[in-house]
Amino acid sequence: MNITNEIISAYIDNLYVNENTDLAELRKFAETHNIPVIRRDTEKLLKVIMKLKQPARVLEIGTAVGYSSCVFADCCGCSVLSIELDEESAKAARSNIENLGFSGQIKVVCGEAAAVLRGLDPAAPYDLLFIDAAKSHYREFWDLAMPYMSRDSIVICDNVLLKGMTASDECVTRRRDWTSTRRMREFIEYISSLDYADTTIVPIGDGLSISIIEKNGSIT
Ligand SMILES: C[S@@+](CC[C@H](N)C(=O)[O-])C[C@H]1O[C@@H](n2cnc3c(N)ncnc32)[C@H](O)[C@@H]1O
Repeated sequence: MNITNEIISAYIDNLYVNENTDLAELRKFAETHNIPVIRRDTEKLLKVIMKLKQPARVLEIGTAVGYSSCVFADCCGCSVLSIELDEESAKAARSNIENLGFSGQIKVVCGEAAAVLRGLDPAAPYDLLFIDAAKSHYREFWDLAMPYMSRDSIVICDNVLLKGMTASDECVTRRRDWTSTRRMREFIEYISSLDYADTTIVPIGDGLSISIIEKNGSIT
């Protein structure tokens, strides 16, 4: 199920123009090969947020072939550290990043995000975190990344509405989706109740959570 009205989504997607032809090609490649990348409407919103926030340093969990990393680097000149579990994807991402001319800005680390996050340097905090990987582990990623986030940083998580399943049991049609649905519901409740974060859920794409980290990142 789509969480958005099909007519409205088609209208918004029709307005989508990617002025960077290399990025447009990379999106086309990803879509043709069924490689999951941020949706068009999500990309537009992320770009607006990036341009407003002007983050110097972005941390991303879930690189795939490097599409969203390149979008971030392209739209506001930030540096990006992106974490990807799959070796082949990380290799493809590095190659795409080099071909698009962003190797000076984007570093891809191949590894399990939880392990990589534990080894980051707390002296070099990030201004924006984008979580777009294993959906059942969002809480773990959030908690592990938080000590590295700067004051007033932004955390954005993709796919938090899980095709409607997060919002309603009626949308959960497969038995195997129950665990990820329950975990996502717990995650949303968790980030909505934190006193150091102000969070909103935006019904765009497959659902985005956008949080402002109001206190210095040390979580308790
Ligand atoms: C939806 S794709 C990322 C798409 C990318 N952000 C974009 O829009 O171009 C999710 C990626 O997360 C990776 N991933 C899944 N679990 C992970 C984990 N535990 N640690 C690091 N990466 C993980 C997957 O291999 C996959 O390539």
